Amino acid sequence: MNFTINLPGMPARSSEIFVGDDLLERLSGELKIRFGERRPVWICDEKMWGRWREKLSPLIEAGGKGSEPILFAALESNKTLSALEDLARRLVHEGADRQSVLVAVGGGVTGDVAGFLASIYMRGIPHYQIPTTLLAQVDSSVGGKTGVDLPEGKNLLGTFHQPEAIWMDVRFLETLPREEFRQGMAEVIKTAMIGHGAFWKYLENHKEDILRGDREALMQIVSQSCMVKSRVVEGDEKESGHRRVLNLGHTVGHALERLSHYKMRHGDAVAIGMVAAAKLALRLEKLSGSHASRLVSLCEFWQLPVKCPSAFSADAIVEAMKSDKKKMGEKLHFILPVGIGEVVEHPEVSLNDLRQVLVSMQVSEP
Ligand SMILES: NC(=O)c1ccc[n+]([C@@H]2O[C@H](COP(=O)([O-])OP(=O)(O)OC[C@H]3O[C@@H](n4cnc5c(N)ncnc54)[C@H](O)[C@@H]3O)[C@@H](O)[C@H]2O)c1
Ligand SMILES: [Zn+2]
Repeated sequence: MNFTINLPGMPARSSEIFVGDDLLERLSGELKIRFGERRPVWICDEKMWGRWREKLSPLIEAGGKGSEPILFAALESNKTLSALEDLARRLVHEGADRQSVLVAVGGGVTGDVAGFLASIYMRGIPHYQIPTTLLAQVDSSVGGKTGVDLPEGKNLLGTFHQPEAIWMDVRFLETLPREEFRQGMAEVIKTAMIGHGAFWKYLENHKEDILRGDREALMQIVSQSCMVKSRVVEGDEKESGHRRVLNLGHTVGHALERLSHYKMRHGDAVAIGMVAAAKLALRLEKLSGSHASRLVSLCEFWQLPVKCPSAFSADAIVEAMKSDKKKMGEKLHFILPVGIGEVVEHPEVSLNDLRQVLVSMQVSEP
């Protein structure tokens, strides 16, 4: 399966997306042609290299100029300016210049850092992404956002830099820890809520296939998610408007992550955030009870939480949200589901409605 994200008026910045289960083999034949005279430099998640070296080496060799990638320890704590500087200096030592292309192999951490590096190295060189986690395949590699964290907050420094192509092989997911897969499923569910009813039905009808790692089912969810995200990004590359729909579940989700000092995983926080958004929509009579229940059931199937942890009161969550960048005035800006596969922006959710919803979602003390 392949398709292209087209950014209006900018053909040079469109990204081709390939989703398959034989990509490593297919790519080996065409990399040389693709790169031409340009010299590839590979940055690979260290753990991925440990597990996939045998399959990745021939691909790297096929690209020309050696078979050793620069290894990167993919930890959120390494998504920093100093890690970026280390990588940049490695690139210089490897002789990378304006004719080089950077290829990033790994999850969202590797992709965000390597993409950022590509966007500023010698004022910008092209890059390719080979995402290897579910989250990276369905979300972070698509859309061109790059970045690193600061001690003051996540992703505070970054750029928009569209990869020339994104190559996804679902076989990589076979070695992904189950917990990481589950976290990625929260973004898949979110994307289906934004996208369309057929995708949602597929998720409901094929959940057992997805759970046991059926490749056809994995290719379906990855390509459907990418198509939905590309469609949104095409309309609004730099998040001045419609791209905000991708934040469904993230307003409450980010508050929970911050309150937990990032101990709560992103997918778990987003699942609670999506349920909160659905309950708000229900309260505002924009969503039916049966639609809200279907969201809760699907999250529960994936063992994603649907209640707020008792450690955080509704007031604490609201306070944390008020300091979030999406706050507008005294009312909160929310993305609300209004059906399966349909969301709207609601710029004026009252704090009282939100508080009531969060109280109803509180886990009672044992
Ligand atoms: N740029 C964007 O638009 C965007 C969107 C969402 C999230 N993000 C960012 O993505 C990051 C999270 O990405 P992530 O969840 O992929 O995390 P990650 O890159 O840290 O990967 C998770 C873990 O899985 C390991 N791993 C990767 N591929 C593997 C494989 N195939 N088999 C076995 N292990 C594998 C990694 O080494 C790591 O330990 C966050 O920093 C977040 O800010 C960016
Ligand atoms: Zn997210």
